[in-house]
Amino acid sequence: MERKTFYITTPIYYPSGKLHIGHSYTTVAADAMARYKRLQGYDVMFLTGTDEHGQKIQRVAAENGVTPKEYVDKIVDGIKKLWSLMKITNDKFIRTTDQEHVEAVQKIFKALYDKGDIYKSEYEGWYCTPCESFWTETQLVDGKCPDCGRAVEKTREESYFFRLSKYQDRLIRLFEENTEFIQPSSRRNEMLNNFLRPGLEDLCVSRTSFNWGVPVTFDEKHVVYVWIDALSNYITALGYLSDNDENFRKYWPADVHLVGKEIVRFHTIIWPAMLMALDLPLPKQVFGHGWLVLEGGKMSKSKGNVVDPVVLIEKYGLDAIRYFLLREVPFGADGVFSNEALINRINSDLANDLGNLVSRTTAMISKYFGGVIPGTRESGEFDQELISVLSSTKKRTEEYLDKLQFSAALTEIWKSVSRTNKYIDETMPWSLAKKEENKARLAGVLYNLAESIRIISILIQPFMPETPFKIWSQLAIAEEDRTWESAGQWGVYKQSAPVTPGEIIFPRIDLEKELEALAEMEKKQKVTQASSESAGREAKPAADKTGQPEGVALIGIEDFAKVELKVAKVLSCEKVEKSDKLLKLKLQCGNEERQVVSGIAQYYTPEEMVGKVLILVSNLKPAKLRGIESQGMILAASDKESGKLALVTVDGDIPTGSRVS
Ligand code: MSP
Repeated sequence: MERKTFYITTPIYYPSGKLHIGHSYTTVAADAMARYKRLQGYDVMFLTGTDEHGQKIQRVAAENGVTPKEYVDKIVDGIKKLWSLMKITNDKFIRTTDQEHVEAVQKIFKALYDKGDIYKSEYEGWYCTPCESFWTETQLVDGKCPDCGRAVEKTREESYFFRLSKYQDRLIRLFEENTEFIQPSSRRNEMLNNFLRPGLEDLCVSRTSFNWGVPVTFDEKHVVYVWIDALSNYITALGYLSDNDENFRKYWPADVHLVGKEIVRFHTIIWPAMLMALDLPLPKQVFGHGWLVLEGGKMSKSKGNVVDPVVLIEKYGLDAIRYFLLREVPFGADGVFSNEALINRINSDLANDLGNLVSRTTAMISKYFGGVIPGTRESGEFDQELISVLSSTKKRTEEYLDKLQFSAALTEIWKSVSRTNKYIDETMPWSLAKKEENKARLAGVLYNLAESIRIISILIQPFMPETPFKIWSQLAIAEEDRTWESAGQWGVYKQSAPVTPGEIIFPRIDLEKELEALAEMEKKQKVTQASSESAGREAKPAADKTGQPEGVALIGIEDFAKVELKVAKVLSCEKVEKSDKLLKLKLQCGNEERQVVSGIAQYYTPEEMVGKVLILVSNLKPAKLRGIESQGMILAASDKESGKLALVTVDGDIPTGSRVS
């Protein structure tokens, strides 16, 4: 009989830098689901990958002096390494630069054009470069990008358009009739009320202003613009429109697309409309999960080590991180990521509850019976309740997992951990061990404990790839007793060898000491901030490997390229009132004038500054010094010991505004 299939996807990631722990949220969730379905016997296809085209990548690559492909290759390599470190079991990794994908996108574009669903016109709208999104006037919030709040530019160019408006009624029907299509249901109302019912506009699907994209075969100055390229990955990865579309026939339609809430709109409106236009079946579900944010606000790579998955895994272990991500916040809602919450979870749920249960049980089996539970066993009070909770946990866990309720599923499993710990308190094996006549009852109690742990160790497998193996080895659980099915049965445990208490599976962390150490690490990191932004990923932060003195990590050329240095000439200069350190300078930099406040008043008089040709850090965020705005910074060398300072000037005649590199 053919096995049932299960196709799950994550969004494809932008390779614009290192991924932070928030990025790994979708992937860890998808991995848990893929593992769960495999354990249930499904033939699973789990897809992830990278979304590599677009203006932003082209621009960053140019700034770094490499081709876009060279740039993305390096970052994609790092992303793949991260997934392997996190034991992500994706069956395929698609890159939108894969030849097979490029060709299929070209065919999709042409097919939609031939059908009349793509047509040529002119685009005028507001473009947000960092988000690579066009917005209509009405979508802007206070004249800014509604997604990221940054400034947008008015853009007008010849473009191809996808007839999204044509599919509006069918999409409304889809949302109304199929309530499972978009989950959680709150997101459904948001899409219906904010986008679908007010009316859909046709979508700009090609660009001529950059060329890092899939070329339109019949009009070469155009490249396919982001969403047709990116969304198609879910079918091109399966070989759609290629010589071998076996996987497409086998796995499509997807069972679930997991996406963050900000891209639900693209996946539930544009993507189904594209599929309708291609006469293809729609995915069964799109699940929009919430965001992990830091206490101080949005997560970003610049927050450094605290959000670096590699650092977190090195410190606390992979299973602890995966557990935290899926347990802390109900999947769908937003949640706060903090080291304190993480450590508290590790200490309470993992070290105290599960870790202690395993170490107490193995220690007692070893101490009282030399590692082998006798065959003569007596049952007694408290057994029935334990058995009934433990043998029904699988069913309840599955009910939640089927709805992608990871946190609720883990809560169920931990209820059975607590129930088992309570059973130890109720039966008091140490007291039974005092009398020879209680040996059979003691054997029965220890067997029940080992059996409960066996069930728990099977059920945690989707979430934790490492811990089950540690438990199986300590309790010598035979391979045939670890099947998913057997987690719903009682009395299966048989020892394949004597029980051997091993390493503590989750050591307790001293919260206060750890928080202090983290604060120290963050402090140091602020000094080496530049290095934390490096584009490629290494197993450890670069500073660890270079042997550089603390606070002076090596940086790559790409980090240096982020600092824009320009030649500038001092037009005028005056002292800042009530300050003996600050001078206010007016600088000419190309055809711009800049005002800079600099702490050099003890070294230079305003008069000697005028006419000097200096180096300006021209892309520094403006800051206020004594209430006066400083639009950049001028470079100077200083020697702490002698207290000397000298401005960096330019040797030779070169126009102001010239770039320094
Ligand atoms: N390239 C697009 C997706 C195209 S899919 C056809 C994209 N890439 S992304 O790299 O910006 O984001 C990938 C995923 O990571 C998204 O689902 C996004 O929601 C998720 N996350 C990024 N930061 C996150 C948090 N802080 N918390 C949770 N998820 C987050 O969007």
